[in-house]
Parts: sequence; C-alpha cells; structure tokens
Amino acid sequence: MQVVHTIAELKQLTDRAREKRQTIGFVPTMGALHNGHLSLVDKAAAHADMVIISIFVNPTQFNNAKDLERYPRDMQTDLKALSTVKCDVIFAPSVEEVYPETDNRQFNFGELETVMEGQFRPGHFNGVAQVVSRLFDMVNPDKAFFGLKDFQQLAIIRAMTKQLQLAVEIVPCDTIREKDGLAMSSRNTLLNDAQRKNAPAIARTLFESCNFVPDTSVESAKEAVKQAINANDELEVEYFEIVDGYTLQPVDNWDESEYIVGCIAVFAGEIRLIDNVTYKLL
Ligand code: PAJ
Repeated sequence: MQVVHTIAELKQLTDRAREKRQTIGFVPTMGALHNGHLSLVDKAAAHADMVIISIFVNPTQFNNAKDLERYPRDMQTDLKALSTVKCDVIFAPSVEEVYPETDNRQFNFGELETVMEGQFRPGHFNGVAQVVSRLFDMVNPDKAFFGLKDFQQLAIIRAMTKQLQLAVEIVPCDTIREKDGLAMSSRNTLLNDAQRKNAPAIARTLFESCNFVPDTSVESAKEAVKQAINANDELEVEYFEIVDGYTLQPVDNWDESEYIVGCIAVFAGEIRLIDNVTYKLL
C-alpha cells in the first residue's frame, strides 16, 4: 500500500500498472472511512488488478461552511482501516493539487439535479461533478465504484460520465449498515448519544414502508413515513420522495415505473443523514 499526495507521484504508479496491462479500479472518498467505504474497496479488488482510493474532502461540494469545517478528518485511522483490505494506492491530494485554479465549470444535469439533494443542497452536485471528473482525469480508471447509499449522486455520476464521454465503467455498490440498520456514514460519528439511539428509526421506517406496496397509495405511504420519523424527538425529515429510480422524478402510482425508490434526508440536530429503500426493481 502506497500513499501519494501529488498527481505526478500518482501518474508514475498508474503508468507502471498500464505498462503491465493491469486494470485500475478507483474508489473516490472523503475519508473518515467506515465499512461502507471498505466494501467499495473490496469490490474494486474483485473487479480490477490495481485498486486506488482517493481521500479528499472536496470544498466545492459543501454548500454549508459549517458542514465542511466539522467534516471528520483522520488520516491515521483511515490508513489503519485500509491496511485490513487489498488497496494498492491511497491518493490524498491537497486542495491546491486538485484545484490549482478555481473550477468555474457549470454542469447541467437537467431534472436529475432539480429534486431532493439537488433542491436542498444547491451547487452540491456541481461540486461533486467537478471533483469526480478531475479525479477521473488524474487516475484514468477502468472502473469506478460508488455506493447506492448516495442514490442521487450515483445517477449524477452516470450522467456526467456520459456527458463527458468517459470510458470509465461506473459500478454501483450496496449500502452497508450498522447492526441496528443505520446506514453507515462518516457523519454518524458526529451524532450525540440520543441522536445515535434514535437514528435507526430512519432505516427501520423505510424498510417497514415496503409493506405499503402495492395496496397503500404512494401519497399515503409518503405521509406515513414522514410522520413515523418526525414522531421521534431527535429526528426531523427534510424531504422524503418516492421516485422513478432512473429519472429521479416523483411517481404518483406504484405501477408508474419498473424501478421505484424512496429517498430521504433527515436532520438529527444539525447533522444531516440520507438513506433510501428500493420498493420495486423489475
Ligand atoms: P463519501 O461520502 O466519503 O463516500 C464515498 C463513497 O462511499 C460514495 O460512493 C458513497 O456512496 C459510498 N458510501 C458511503 N456510505 C456508504 C455505505 N454505508 N454503504 C456503501 N457505500 C457507501 O460520496 C462522497 O464521499 C463524495 O461525494 C465523493 C464521491 C468522494 C466526491 O467528493
């Protein structure tokens, strides 16, 4: 396992891999690694010869300065976690290395970015597209691995890859959960005891809501989920949408699409958690 901080060092390693005709699997992250991240690394190791993980807290995707400031950073713990899996290269660049100049590119993802995270975190996906397109350019991977936990991000990355006509294959990876169901997230460490105790209600409610399909209306299902989570003192739903899994547009009926997903964002105090559940995938 090698840790590199510059594009020049990274290129040396990827050039050598390319000479040996090795394929490159890439896992972009913002660090504070948990088993969700490690599962992506494992999947990359199963699908590619060389595994590269990036650890970079990308300032351009934070629409809230406080969120960026308090985002957990712990390189030593991350290195320890990565020593337990098959990971060849850790790329941990500085902000100056990734953005020697301000990135003024404005992506247009149409209706994919006007809903949910796009609506409540303006500019967020533009920042994600900026950094991931730059990282793809630096790493030049054959395959890149993204979690379904960030369902809308995955759709945006797919759209970006298509728009920029990149040859990289985007591989979706299942959401990894704590024993009590809470989706693993770097932000979970920021929860206080009471918030942490209540947070599993999010996943529990989502899973239970699968029983609403197909007899309860989509509208009633949405209301029931919001009410059940808001009944919790520590939790407040920001949005809950039941959407077409491809277009991310809200559906009115369960038979409106072959792929239906429920996506939620919940505040536990100031900490914002997201999760989703697949209702239907034909
Ligand atoms: P980060 O939140 O660190 O997540 C890195 C990758 O891990 C993403 O693909 C995310 O979907 C995946 N992931 C997070 N929690 C997961 C879980 N519980 N189970 C499975 N996968 C999980 O997402 C980002 O960073 C950034 O936006 C990034 C893509 C790196 C761009 O800066």
